[in-house]
Amino acid sequence: MATKTEALRRDAEALEKTLVSDRRHLHQNPELSFEEVQTSAFVQERLRDLNIPFTSGIGGYGVVANLQGHRPGPVVALRADMDALPIQEANEVPYASKVPGVMHACGHDVHTASLLGVAALLRSRTQEFSGTVRFLFQPAEEKLPGGASLMIRDGALANPQPQAIYGQHVMPLLPAGTVGFRSGRYMASADEIRLTIRGKGGHAAMPHLNTDAVLIASHIVVALQQVVSRRANPTLPSVLSFGHIIGEGAYNVLPNDVRLRGTFRTMDETWRDQAHALIREIASGTASAMGAICDVEIDRGYPMLFNHPEPTALARSTAEAYLGPQQVVDLDLWMAAEDFAFYAQQIPATFYRLGTRNEAKGWVSSVHTSTFDVDESALPLGAGLMAAIALEQLAAAPSAG
Ligand code: NI
Repeated sequence: MATKTEALRRDAEALEKTLVSDRRHLHQNPELSFEEVQTSAFVQERLRDLNIPFTSGIGGYGVVANLQGHRPGPVVALRADMDALPIQEANEVPYASKVPGVMHACGHDVHTASLLGVAALLRSRTQEFSGTVRFLFQPAEEKLPGGASLMIRDGALANPQPQAIYGQHVMPLLPAGTVGFRSGRYMASADEIRLTIRGKGGHAAMPHLNTDAVLIASHIVVALQQVVSRRANPTLPSVLSFGHIIGEGAYNVLPNDVRLRGTFRTMDETWRDQAHALIREIASGTASAMGAICDVEIDRGYPMLFNHPEPTALARSTAEAYLGPQQVVDLDLWMAAEDFAFYAQQIPATFYRLGTRNEAKGWVSSVHTSTFDVDESALPLGAGLMAAIALEQLAAAPSAG
């Protein structure tokens, strides 16, 4: 085992140039969610070069490839997302985005390049495993309903169903050379909330003749914090934030209506539904107590992400063997959402973090910012470790062949 791990690590290091150039190509040519035409074509070209059979057009521009080992056996799935964000890149680097207003600011270029690297590493190791490694190159992680749900709908987890699925994501909080795991609840569900408070506009000097939607909206914003501060179980993370409040009156004009937009996040599906009902009740009740009407619309986003104990333990112990235990850390709960959660609702899954921080080089910015970048020395680890995890999973699983 030790020698196989060493060989894998060595081969992954030898792949660094390709990994970096693939990542830079993707970084320079980012595409928004549901528009990943060239990215998908690039992935398909690489898979063709590797002589790995694939199907395109899964869940939009998604690609599913299957690499068979030397004997039949179970299936393990590995996933990378491919889409970029509507952000203008501010980094002055030779590989900066060539597309105005679009940027790989969440590291999905790294995920895609890494998974291509995994495919290359395992292509030359088919004698070392039984079963199938299924590669999911997924579109549209950043936009509802999420490419993961569409790929599942198109059968990415069927015929036959994988025994487990693994996904990795860059994390600029963790130093390059480290990886992080968490078993159980890890990331939040995220729902979009839209409120419209309908009052009656008029002259601001005569409030008694109007119904002040601005004041009522203010009461609603305060009252809704009741949901997370008094109604939520305090041991369960819940966040309700309104980042958008529009009332188009003037100094001396009260508007007819005020529109609010916000996000509700939590980590329990039952509480999620209860909280939605409370938001409706408190918002419309507060409005009606003050003579207005509040329309409440809630768009369900991604579910909470649960990392199953078994694949998490397998991935973690593989990482400890691959890297040394000092380089493997425990992750905290994370209130962002991720559509990998849809896979984890279907089959055993774990979503882990690849450290990409490098203070000396200044790569410390958060994901989803115009100055986000990664320490590319993390790429061989991203590819090599995922290949090691796939091999461990196939070796651990009882053979279906
Ligand atoms: Ni992301």
